[in-house]
Amino acid sequence: MGKDKRVLTGITTSGAPHLGNLVGAIRPAINSSKVNSTSSFLFLADYHSLIKSQDPNLTHDSSFEIAAAWLACGLKPEVVTFYRQSDIPEIMELAWILSCVTAKGLMNRAHAYKAATAQNSEQGISELDKGVFMGLFNYPVLMAADILAFNADIVPVGNDQKQHIEMTRDIAARFNHLYGKVFKLPEALISESTGVLPGVDGQKMSKSYNNTIPIFLEEKALLKTVRKIKTNSLEPGVPKDPTNCNVFKLFKAFASEAESNDFESRYHEGISWGEAKNALFELLNAELSNLRENYSEIISDREKLEETLVLGAGKARETASVILQDVRHAVGIKSFTS
Ligand code: TRP
Repeated sequence: MGKDKRVLTGITTSGAPHLGNLVGAIRPAINSSKVNSTSSFLFLADYHSLIKSQDPNLTHDSSFEIAAAWLACGLKPEVVTFYRQSDIPEIMELAWILSCVTAKGLMNRAHAYKAATAQNSEQGISELDKGVFMGLFNYPVLMAADILAFNADIVPVGNDQKQHIEMTRDIAARFNHLYGKVFKLPEALISESTGVLPGVDGQKMSKSYNNTIPIFLEEKALLKTVRKIKTNSLEPGVPKDPTNCNVFKLFKAFASEAESNDFESRYHEGISWGEAKNALFELLNAELSNLRENYSEIISDREKLEETLVLGAGKARETASVILQDVRHAVGIKSFTS
């Protein structure tokens, strides 16, 4: 029974898990873990959290919550390799080795770094690197290490992460060119809905924009958040266009095709925004209420969750340590007698 493709993805642990994570990473990753010909590596990117947040409680709590979220959504730790990035020292080691073959010019082009310098420039700050830390600058190298430490074939990510996978390929190719073929070149798998799930303000749902709908909100809070979703100001009874509607986009990500078609006709018939939001709430709540129950059970047993991750780390290191052994040998870091 050959498991020929390795699928790997991570979630940065810097905030409560939200619907964007569910649709963009958790759901597709769990679905692909059910495919027999793949083996899945799913992890909590807790070292990535330090790039954005210097709040230890946020990093820690969010790591716990996101771990519980994966399990509540149906991840089976006995079927996949599920771990915390920080439990895998091989990743950190590889990050250094890769940084020594990564051109600084390549990193200058990374979106996150460019956005930071562009913001300084817009504000008339002449020191363009003001407020830029090495963690942010090196972020694509750490991400390459996450992927290459497992020689992943397929990396499901949101559209905003595509550049990082291209950079990972560049870095891997450079390493292979210098030292011989150690790494596979991974492919990004961009699911269509991943790039577009809007937050309550209509921008991409993201912790950085503070516009998320957390997965495990209590019913009342969920309704309140859904009511905040930005719409236009068309009156009830006036036909509405679903195409660029935030409520519709969110609905579609959770509905069957028939349900979406039906909702679309109600738009043409002039559904009111209050009704549209109630329908979205009902749909979300039907799916999320089960998950909410699983979640509260899981978070009540911290020891079991810790144990699950420690076991996962052991499994993950079995793979990463073999690859790191090859990497160390390739670069000339090895015992005098081997
Ligand atoms: N940087 C990714 C994000 O913010 C999360 C992440 C970290 C990741 N390492 C990864 C995703 C490796 C895929 C593969 O969404």
